[in-house]
This record gives sequence, C-alpha cells and structure tokens, in this order.
Amino acid sequence: MTKAAVYATLQQPLEIMELNLMDPQVGEVRIALGASGVCHSDLSVINGTLPIPPPAVLGHEGAGTVVAIGAGVTNVKVGDHVVISWVPQCGTCYTCSRDQGELCETGATASMFGTMLDYTSRFSMKDGTAVAQMSAAGTFSEETVVPAISCVKIPDDVPFQIAALIGCGVLTGFGAAVNTANIREGDNVVVVGAGGVGLNTIQGAKHKGAGKIIAVDMVDGKLETAASVGATHTINASNGDAIEQVMALTDGRGADVAFEVIGFPATIRQSFDMTRKGGETVIVGVPRLDQTMEFNPGMDFVIAEKTLKGCWYGGANVHRDVPMLISQYKNGSLKLDELISREIKLEDVNAAMDEMHGGHIARSVIVY
Ligand code: APR
Ligand code: ZN
Ligand code: ZN
Repeated sequence: MTKAAVYATLQQPLEIMELNLMDPQVGEVRIALGASGVCHSDLSVINGTLPIPPPAVLGHEGAGTVVAIGAGVTNVKVGDHVVISWVPQCGTCYTCSRDQGELCETGATASMFGTMLDYTSRFSMKDGTAVAQMSAAGTFSEETVVPAISCVKIPDDVPFQIAALIGCGVLTGFGAAVNTANIREGDNVVVVGAGGVGLNTIQGAKHKGAGKIIAVDMVDGKLETAASVGATHTINASNGDAIEQVMALTDGRGADVAFEVIGFPATIRQSFDMTRKGGETVIVGVPRLDQTMEFNPGMDFVIAEKTLKGCWYGGANVHRDVPMLISQYKNGSLKLDELISREIKLEDVNAAMDEMHGGHIARSVIVY
C-alpha cells in the first residue's frame, strides 16, 4: 500500500487515499519518492486542459530512491537516487536517435495515457479499480512504479527537492531556450510567464549568451525572482501595453526570440507580436486542446519571415540533459534553490494547487 493524491473528478480537489501498488514488472522500477514539485500541468489535468481519464495519481515532477527493480533492469539498482522523466526515453527508437527523445516512440503514448509501457497501471484502489499514473510517473505518492527508461541516476548529494524540479520545470524551461530555440549570442529574448517553467527559460537564455532578457508577468514577486535568476528587464503586463514596452526596449524592432510559458492563445499571439521580422516564437505553455488560433500566413510568416515553434518537454534528451543541469546547479550557474517557494506535505497538495491560481508561488515542493 502507498498513500497517494488521486484525481477522481474534474474540477474537484485531489483525494488522499491508500492505494495498492504492484511490484515492478519486467523493465520497471519501484521508487520511494523523496520529493515532488507541484507543476501547472498537474492543475491542467484537474481543470481539463490536459485530459487524462480519472482516476489517476497525479504528479510528474519527482525524484526518489530505487527500492526494487523488475527483471531485466540494468540502468539503475536498489539504493540509487533518480530523477523521473515524465516521458520515458528509450534512446534507440526513430525519434530518440534523431535527438528528439521528448517524442520517444516507445514512451510517449504511455506518458499521455498515464500508464506503463504495456498500457496498464501499477496502482489500484482497494476494490481493484485501476488508477492511472500521470506521465507514466504519478509522483504525488509515497511510492510509485515507473519504466526503467524513465529513470536517470543522479549523485546522492543532490537534494531531492532540487532533483524533482529538474524533472519537469527545469528540463522544460531551460531546454526550450537551449534545445528548441535558436538563440544567438547577444539576441534580445522575451519570456512571457515567469512561473516555475519560465524562470528556467530565463536561465537557459542567459546560458546561451542572450543580450536583453525581458521577463513579462502580472505578479511583481515573480518579476523580482525573474530578475534574480537573470532577467535584465521586467514588464508587469497589467501596467500598460506589454508589446509596446518590448518594442521600446528593442529599438522598435521586437525581440529576436520570444517564449510563451503560460498556455493561452492570447499570450501566444502577444509573444508572436513581440518578435521582430525574422524572429522566432516558441510555445512552451500548453493551451487547452480544443483551442485554435488564426494567423495571416502571408503577413505573419512569409513577408515577416517569422517562425512559430512548439516545444514539448524542453526538447530534452533526459539522459544527456539531467547530468548537465546537475553540474550547472553544483557550479552555481543554475539557480534552483531560489525557485522553491516552500516545502509542503502530500496532504497540502490541494492548497498548493489553489495558490497557483494566484500566481505568487514559483514552486511548492512536496517532501516525503
Ligand atoms: N500575462 C503575463 N503573465 C501571466 C498571464 C498573463 N496574461 N497569465 C498568467 N501569467 C503568469 C503567472 O503569473 C505565472 O507567473 O504566468 C506564470 C505561469 O506560471 P505557473 O503557474 O508557475 O506555471 P508553470 O508551472 O511555469 O507552467 C507554465 O508551461 O509546462 C507548461 O503546462 C505548463 O502551461 C503551463 C506552462
Ligand atoms: Zn510539469
Ligand atoms: Zn525512444
């Protein structure tokens, strides 16, 4: 048995309950979670933006200790500390071998369905009802079982709270700037949405040698954190026209690269309109799947030669990028302690979700 936070009904708080957890099967690993971040995508499941059929253990940003391994597992052993990748990445399929591990053909479907690679889950209720596990993970639980290819071994001295953040917010945000976008040295970059993910996009842009890094948010506290991790300019979008303010900071031209890290069509359009001719906009935020947008292909794309790109999981190869991010954290160039607003217990997860609406919390992290 393990205690977990279960998504049972759309728009309703998660229910804390005891669940059965099966032993790891072939190629699977049982993990005692050390920490799990509460990410906006968890909230997106509850509000229907990311449709996962309930019941499901939510949580996809986690790290912990391997407590059991199934047959055939060779990449980790009992006692290892690991970051859980929310897309299992095999390293050998068509997309993995083309440096697009975030789209792994072995792992992506299970990740979307919230199951193991055989499309069944390891969690069940006392009455036997199967309970899905978000992103083949399910980190809002004391223990979970995940595919071994979701595990990235990390050094024992990395705090679980930090390792957990790397599992989603850092890989996604930093990766959007480093893997997905084409930031040239000195480029002016704008990041719209300075939450748990956007703050890492700011750090990725800094890592790439961007010139101005302009953070746009509606919460002053977020903009202060943005400045502390590398934003050179901040704009509170509730004070005046944010596009005009970006234009004023970029000689009237617009930014070279813009990132939308919220997930609304209106802010995607705004980000796009903040870029210069020939500029690039990367959509990192995940909009509701029933939303659409209109563009003028001639004006927006051909004549202005703009690019609009999506970004899933920071375009990350987790087996390559997690060790890189940990070494940057250790040498002080990647600031992660600043992103943890507070540590909470599993039982506090609903309050943490509610607070995300207010926008004042960068990240709440559950510590087990
Ligand atoms: N203009 C500017 N900033 C806004 C606006 C707006 N209209 N609306 C919201 N914001 C800001 C919030 O104040 C907050 O700081 O966007 C930020 C969103 O941050 P979080 O809620 O912490 O979300 P995060 O976990 O960073 O995820 C952002 O990325 O991975 C996806 O699914 C995730 O779509 C979500 C997005
Ligand atoms: Zn996430
Ligand atoms: Zn693969």
